[in-house]
Amino acid sequence: MTLNRVEASAKIVQRYFSQPLPKLPQGFPNGWMSAKDLTVLYNAGLNAKGDVLEVGPWLGRSTTAIAAGLRQRETDGGTSLKYDSVDFGITSADEWVERFDEPFNLSKDKGRVAQAVYHPGGTIAVLIQNLLANDLLKYVTNIIRGDFLDSPISRKYSLIFCDATHDDKEIHRHMPRLAELAAPGCVLVFDDVVTEERADLVCGYLNVSDRFMTRAVYPDRKARCKLLVVETQT
Ligand SMILES: C[S@@+](CC[C@H](N)C(=O)[O-])C[C@H]1O[C@@H](n2cnc3c(N)ncnc32)[C@H](O)[C@@H]1O
Repeated sequence: MTLNRVEASAKIVQRYFSQPLPKLPQGFPNGWMSAKDLTVLYNAGLNAKGDVLEVGPWLGRSTTAIAAGLRQRETDGGTSLKYDSVDFGITSADEWVERFDEPFNLSKDKGRVAQAVYHPGGTIAVLIQNLLANDLLKYVTNIIRGDFLDSPISRKYSLIFCDATHDDKEIHRHMPRLAELAAPGCVLVFDDVVTEERADLVCGYLNVSDRFMTRAVYPDRKARCKLLVVETQT
């Protein structure tokens, strides 16, 4: 039993933590993901078997990690992959309230949220700027502004990162479409899914072959690795 756990951890580390995050000229944009979280996304991009989908890039912290992985993958001789990224792309306080059903707080995250929302073009414009700054924009095929459920996307994806399954409501709202978009053998990474109950809820929509929580490998609160990674059956 203990040996299995150790073996499982070794497998996870090998697949999702083996390559360190690269140094980038402008660093990683502001956001809420830890260096360990970003390392998982970077390695997932690096080893992607096919096209990539992201739901919820915000200002591109996660996007930067995935795109940097895809860039390194190409440098290593891999074919270029499609990478579609979808976000509400908030441009006003009213839109914030409408989308998130919560008051818009000007001082949230030391005012950085308001700064991005009130930037000309809103958060999507900041996302594009942040990707350009690290010369990574060309690795993102489509940046779509709007509700992911209304997005005109029809590919099957081999890597999906979703930062929009934070509670039961979001899980039930987003998982049916994500399950449709997942190719066989897809790797799906979910941020902030840290309880077994929520992981069960997410996995209930998928044909799971393997699943794990990154905090099982890095339980230290300071390391803050809070992802659920699911691999589906081939
Ligand atoms: C926690 S933030 C993402 C943070 C980002 N991944 C990072 O690394 O900093 C969640 C994002 O999901 C987006 N989002 C939530 N539900 C969505 C939906 N149905 N369609 C498109 N975007 C959505 C929000 O607009 C928000 O930008």
